[in-house]
Formats: sequence, structure tokens, C-alpha cells
Amino acid sequence: VTSENGQLYELYTEAAKLYHHMLVNTAQGEPSLEYLQKRGLDEQTIDLFALGYAPKTPLLLPYFQEKGTDYQLLRQSELFIVNDDGTLRDRFVNRVLFTIRNAQGQVIAFSGRSLEPNEQAKYINSPESKIFNKSKELFNFDLARQHIRRAKTVILFEGFMDVIAAYSSGLQNGVASMGTSLTQDQVRLLDRVTDKVLIAYDGDNPGQEATKRAISLLGQYAPNIQVQVVHLPEGLDPDEYLRKYGADEFVNVFSHALESPVTFAMRYLKKNRNLANESEKLAYIDDVLAVIATGQNPVERDLQLNQLVAEFGISRESLQGQLQQLILTNR
Ligand code: CTP
Ligand code: MN
Ligand code: MN
Ligand code: MN
Ligand code: MN
Repeated sequence: VTSENGQLYELYTEAAKLYHHMLVNTAQGEPSLEYLQKRGLDEQTIDLFALGYAPKTPLLLPYFQEKGTDYQLLRQSELFIVNDDGTLRDRFVNRVLFTIRNAQGQVIAFSGRSLEPNEQAKYINSPESKIFNKSKELFNFDLARQHIRRAKTVILFEGFMDVIAAYSSGLQNGVASMGTSLTQDQVRLLDRVTDKVLIAYDGDNPGQEATKRAISLLGQYAPNIQVQVVHLPEGLDPDEYLRKYGADEFVNVFSHALESPVTFAMRYLKKNRNLANESEKLAYIDDVLAVIATGQNPVERDLQLNQLVAEFGISRESLQGQLQQLILTNR
């Protein structure tokens, strides 16, 4: 199985080179290259992240067939779609490609972004294969690892472009969960290398909802990690924020727009609630207490409880009791 995987890694490495070549050296790749340049990426960044272009015409299939690569290996690779008659065709067609590497730096998958602004499937990912399970990988973990260790901090993004934008602005300790569904496995991966996570998910509703979920997942599976939330205004995602406000402002938010999970929760959980309504107020307090309960530091929890007491003028004793209950059920 190992040598079989070895062949798959080789296949992916070669595919990444071909796609990159299409992007930077061919006329077919020019619109994609211009697209990436318009999004602020320079040549060095495009090379470092091995960005590519999958053309409209077949690319990988004729190349690997010409080389005599085994059909079963090609089929297993998931780089192709199997036609009804068993023949193969290139999976990625007319898309900008992000190369996904595992923690060891081996190429294991691609994600293709449509160039059309209104395309329904903005991203198409490699499906699961022997070497790729999306829920177990973090985009850019291999390159970021040394920077994470040095800073004892990781920045957790949603998307490829967020990681790449941050990297080229000097924030090299960023990884992406590749969407809003952070997993236990991804949390465990982070737990091995860092003391602190800055969650920098998109400022839109799905991103904020995912932030709430990430806080609780981190509290549950990596209770020793300190968590802070990067608050991006106007519903922007990190990459959009960088393009709008520039690199200096962008780097700034990672030290100046940080919220504790509780501050985040107190702000976010209020948004769709009418706190003048008694039962909605109680539900809100429950939710905030649940976030406070995930914290490991008793002094910190105490201060956070004070915030709630001050905000609602409720008795500290009743909140304290409820919090203790939650802490016990978490154990
Ligand atoms: N994603 C995915 N499949 C999708 C949509 C999203 O895998 N159909 C992942 C990608 O890793 C994407 C991330 O989720 O980068 C965040 O999604 P989204 O915020 O919608 O995209 P952006 O990263 O902001 O993409 P862009 O800036 O190119 O529009
Ligand atoms: Mn190059
Ligand atoms: Mn998003
Ligand atoms: Mn986004
Ligand atoms: Mn974006």
C-alpha cells in the first residue's frame, strides 16, 4: 500500500507541475494568471503555492497515457472522472487550481476555482482518495508549521486566498480549514504544534456561526489552547479586508482587533435576539455561560462572569451556580 501511495504522490506532483506550467507559460493560462494578479498575487507567491490552471482541453489524461501510466493507478488517483464506458477524462476543466499538500509537504489534492463570477460551484475539490481526506488536512500546514512553532500561535482561516494573502503580507503562520466545518482531527493537528489559535473566519454570517462552533470544538478537544477571535468588520473575509484596507491595516487586526471567545459570544449571540424579551434574554445568558464554561482559567472565568453580571444586573450567585453546573457536565 505504501508504494502504491508513493505512486499517487508522484502522480500528483507531476500533475501540479503541469497545471502550474499551464498557468504561467501558456496562452491558455493567461486569463487565469491575470485573474490571480488582479487579486494581488505576485509571481513569487504563485510559484510558492504552486498555483495552476486546468485548461478547457484534456491535459493530464493524454500526458499520463503517453507515459504509459497504469490505468488502475490513474483511476485511483481521482484526478479523472470515469465515463460510463470506463474511459477517463480530466476532472478539472477551465479552473484556477490551488494545490493541497499534506503535513509532510506531499501534493495530495487540488481545489479548482471557477473564473466565472456566477458559477454555482465556486470551488470543486478532489474527492476523497487513498491519500486525501479533506477533514484531516489543513491547507498550508506544512509551510506554516515552523512559523506556528516560533510564534506559538496559528491563525485559522476558512479559505485558500485568505492564507495566501496573509502569507504574502508577512503572516506566515496561517492555515485554512478549507471551509467552515472545522473538524476534531484538524483541532488535534493544531493542538500538537501551538499554544494559541486566532480564529480569522469570514465576517459574514456563515463565518461567524462557524467561529462559534470552532470555539466550542477547540474548548472540547484542545482545552489547553488559548483562543482569540479576529473581528473583521462589514462582513468581509480576510482577503477582502486586505484588498480594501492594505497590508498594514491587515496585519494590525491580528493584534488589535482580537476578542476573547466570551467577548465574541456576547457580541455575536446578541445579534439575532431581542434581549428585552425575558426568555430570549435567558437563552442568551445560557449561551454565554456555556462559552465561559469552556475556559480553563478560573480567574478569567470570574472576570467574564462579572461582565455578565454588570450587563444584566443579575445576582452573581445564581450565575455562579449555573456556571459550575456547566463546568461539571463538561468534564
Ligand atoms: N470551499 C470548498 N468548497 C466550496 C466552497 C468553499 O472547499 N464549494 C472552501 C475553500 O477552501 C474556500 C473556503 O471554503 O477557500 C471558504 O469559502 P468561501 O469563503 O466561500 O470562499 P473564498 O475562500 O472567500 O473564495 P474567493 O475569495 O475566491 O471567493
Ligand atoms: Mn514557476
Ligand atoms: Mn466564507
Ligand atoms: Mn471567504
Ligand atoms: Mn474570499
